[in-house]
Amino acid sequence: MAQNRTFTMLKPDAVANGHIGAILEKINVSGFRIVALKMTQLTKADAEAFYAVHAERAFYGELVDYMTEGPIVAVILEKENAVEDFRTLIGATNPAEAAEGTIRKMYAESISANAVHGSDSDENAALEAAFHFAGKENF
Ligand code: RTP
Ligand code: MG
Repeated sequence: MAQNRTFTMLKPDAVANGHIGAILEKINVSGFRIVALKMTQLTKADAEAFYAVHAERAFYGELVDYMTEGPIVAVILEKENAVEDFRTLIGATNPAEAAEGTIRKMYAESISANAVHGSDSDENAALEAAFHFAGKENF
């Protein structure tokens, strides 16, 4: 099967709680190759644009506030079946419902502070990667 790509962010809670190394290790041993990686902090405009699909949702304001409260780590990953396999690795949005061994089960605090983002389609993975990285930063 062809290699393809997904995009993840280690969210502010994961960074603040010192989980960058453990989460990247779990991603690596699960067969994903890191293609691009950087620590950055989202502005309000960045977070609003990144999560624009949720603009009408009740949790949107809380989500934007939370995603801008501290630094995040943006990462492009490559693997066979990357988008679906990464969603399986991170687990359900609400960590209380996430399966044992998933990143959210192990490291998330709550449904808002849920440790990691994972793209939900190949199309969104490409858009989200381009949002965070210039072409010359992809390896
Ligand atoms: P993500 O996009 O971050 O990978 O998360 P997801 O697909 O599992 O969940 P999604 O429905 O796309 O929601 C985006 C993020 O919004 C926050 N959220 N809060 N308080 C709430 O009810 C609620 N619901 C969602 C979470 O941080 C979720 O990851
Ligand atoms: Mg989502």
